[in-house]
Amino acid sequence: MTAPSGGQPDAGSGRAGASSGRARHRQGEALIRRGIPYADPAGTLSLLPGAAIGEWLADVREAFTGRLLDAGAGNQPYRRWYEPLADQVVAVDATPAPGLAALCLADHLPFAAESFDTVLSTQVWEHVEDPGAAAREAWRVLRPGGRLVVTVPFLYPTHEAPYDFGRFTSFGLESVLCRAGFEVERMDAEGGPLLLGSHLMVLALSQALDALGRLLHLPRPVTGSALVRPLFTMPQHIAIASRFRWRGTRRGFSRGAGRVTLGYFAVAHKPQPVTAGESAAGSASDRRADRPG
Ligand SMILES: C[S@@+](CC[C@H](N)C(=O)[O-])C[C@H]1O[C@@H](n2cnc3c(N)ncnc32)[C@H](O)[C@@H]1O
Repeated sequence: MTAPSGGQPDAGSGRAGASSGRARHRQGEALIRRGIPYADPAGTLSLLPGAAIGEWLADVREAFTGRLLDAGAGNQPYRRWYEPLADQVVAVDATPAPGLAALCLADHLPFAAESFDTVLSTQVWEHVEDPGAAAREAWRVLRPGGRLVVTVPFLYPTHEAPYDFGRFTSFGLESVLCRAGFEVERMDAEGGPLLLGSHLMVLALSQALDALGRLLHLPRPVTGSALVRPLFTMPQHIAIASRFRWRGTRRGFSRGAGRVTLGYFAVAHKPQPVTAGESAAGSASDRRADRPG
């Protein structure tokens, strides 16, 4: 696809595949508390992945600058949070949603090269058949020095089927980033085995309760009940509040953590062109040394 000049979106473009028959899994605008975007309990029973992402985004907020592209923005849950940090926001997705600048695939962006300062993709690359192509497109549209902020789940049930193509380890994500030409600044594992286990438990229990409700021919999903929802959300609120207070600045890979996690979250930048005499960027294997093997 030919990119229009000036980085303006070619609305409605994108190869076949954008929009056709796609259903979005995550819904609704995040609630901002203490400057952190959290999942809205009115929209989901599963609050832990959203909390992990929101707390991490707040931690890397300095990466959000200039002209920002949210690639795979969905319903733009974080827009109200990142909009004050950026000069201009452009949100695109493969599925129609209000406020999108263009319908397109993350691996075929209708923008000029070097037209963005920041590219954000939260929980999108597992839905891209070739995440390497999405990484290369992010690299292409970023100016040298520009940053990519990307989050992917490690363990999560199949969602947005059939457009759900894989899960990542930190090494897989780092490999995709490095092969596209990025230098990885941060690679974090957010949420350890307890939070991951709690998250899967919430999903399993809620699905089992709703299945039971259907067996009993109840008119509405059990988990939609105002009596039942707090039984799910209250323990998660407590877990989130405790983690926020006690976690401090510790992240992911210390003391062998990071193998079992809610997800891997990375900040990477497009290096300035290498001039003669300067050595090329270090290899991925150099940076792997501080993580469990
Ligand atoms: C799990 S949702 C995440 C949405 C949003 N980034 C968020 O954090 O809530 C995945 C999004 O990726 C979009 N998507 C799926 N495949 C895509 C692709 N190849 N290119 C761009 N967006 C895609 C979906 O339409 C959906 O909005």
